[in-house]
Amino acid sequence: MRILILGGTTQASQLARVLATRGDIKPLLSLAGRTQNPLPVPIPSRTGGFGGVEGLVAFLRMERIEALIDATHPFAAQMSAHAREACRQTSVPLLLFSRPAWTAGEGDDWTEVASMEDAVVALGENPRRVFLTQGRLQLAAFAAAPQHFYLVRAIDEPVELALLPNHKFVSARGPFELEDELALMREEGIEILVSKNSGGDATSAKLLAARKLHIPVVLVARPATGDATEASLLAEVLRWIESHRAAP
Ligand SMILES: NC(=O)c1ccc[n+]([C@@H]2O[C@H](COP(=O)([O-])OP(=O)(O)OC[C@H]3O[C@@H](n4cnc5c(N)ncnc54)[C@H](OP(=O)(O)O)[C@@H]3O)[C@@H](O)[C@H]2O)c1
Repeated sequence: MRILILGGTTQASQLARVLATRGDIKPLLSLAGRTQNPLPVPIPSRTGGFGGVEGLVAFLRMERIEALIDATHPFAAQMSAHAREACRQTSVPLLLFSRPAWTAGEGDDWTEVASMEDAVVALGENPRRVFLTQGRLQLAAFAAAPQHFYLVRAIDEPVELALLPNHKFVSARGPFELEDELALMREEGIEILVSKNSGGDATSAKLLAARKLHIPVVLVARPATGDATEASLLAEVLRWIESHRAAP
């Protein structure tokens, strides 16, 4: 069974490792190519955009893909929308493998906002020491509030950093541990954290650290997911694959 996995996430890599052990499945991992040195995966992979819906439709046909698993980041809305449309046109079964959104617990001080621009406004007028954890994307929005200090964490150094007059860059790739997050936030005197509601375990330690340190969090809500069938556990994905296998 030829399965295309749209990746760029920890979850996609986990799925790739599991499917690599299956002789009856031919998985192919697709990456956008945004990260300079992606972690190696034990299955064949390809890199770069498909060229919109049309390009993806052509790719699915050419590679005779029998199932598509969209394991992109919950904020990669364009790729997910293209996957839905291409699968509709080709009748290739589609599964959205997405981690559940984070929800606030006792002791959390969260402000949920609809966009990164709203997150900037939520920081307020007074200068604060802000921890930005959304990676390189949408960093430019914070240029509108140059009074704050920004601690920026991403895998590769974003060019948009130059737009923030008062910043420090930390290069790091998740998963992150609670102790490390606590130490970083204490060392940098962080007063407020900004994050997308990505969900999952790999990057949730920062939220626990914020709770422990009584630091407020501005959380950007996820884009809508459309009407694709969804799974959040690896076991569910494997069951879905079984249910779409052609009878021998
Ligand atoms: N957005 C985030 O916060 C975030 C965080 C962590 C990781 N990522 C990962 O980074 C990648 C890019 O995210 P984004 O938010 O820039 O995506 P996006 O805005 O939804 O997609 C923009 C374009 O990039 C190409 N693309 C995206 N993901 C691809 C993939 N897995 N394989 C091949 N082409 C892909 C597609 O180009 P064509 O139209 O030419 O096909 C797509 O139309 C994704 O793979 C995502 O999983 C994103």
